[in-house]
Amino acid sequence: GAEDAAYLISKIRTIPGFPKEGILFRDFMPALADARAFGILMDALEAALPVSADDFDVVAGLEARGFLFGPALAARLGKGFIAVRKAGKLPPETVSQSYDLEYGQASVEIETNAIHEGVRVLIVDDLIATGGTANAARSLIEKCGGTVAGFSFVMELIGINGMESLGSYPSSSLVRMPA
Ligand code: PRP
Ligand code: MG
Repeated sequence: GAEDAAYLISKIRTIPGFPKEGILFRDFMPALADARAFGILMDALEAALPVSADDFDVVAGLEARGFLFGPALAARLGKGFIAVRKAGKLPPETVSQSYDLEYGQASVEIETNAIHEGVRVLIVDDLIATGGTANAARSLIEKCGGTVAGFSFVMELIGINGMESLGSYPSSSLVRMPA
């Protein structure tokens, strides 16, 4: 209920000016450290799935903070988990996808055989800001022949069109806060 939601939100810290001037850093670690808040969060993530659990086969999570929630959600649902890693962390062979950061570029990678043709994937991350990271993960999974069933985020930063950048894929977020 509303009391649980308020309790969860009270455990998300905001740190202004990190990692640089002008950025409000949203920190989920206190919500993970607190058993009640983590329980509320995981229950809510499951309740807010953007599609039925019957409509995807596996959960994929994005390094690093998507690894905090993706495997926990997958285990609850009785699904497997696929790690989408930052570049250079996996032995070859990998498939990679580059994406734009505010300054410069980054890449995400998965093992070539991590996704089989036709596998339906739910993408999980802690947060969507511009949507660059989430869209890179989507491209990567589609390059491998997978189908993206939807996106689950704990938090959505509003006013910067992240959710809009996902197009028509089903998506959900638990908490919406200004960027
Ligand atoms: C953060 C966050 C999301 C991404 C969202 O990851 O965890 O993955 O930014 O931003 P976007 O929608 O503009 O792409 P980051 O790469 O900063 O660090 P992490 O390794 O701690 O997850
Ligand atoms: Mg991240």
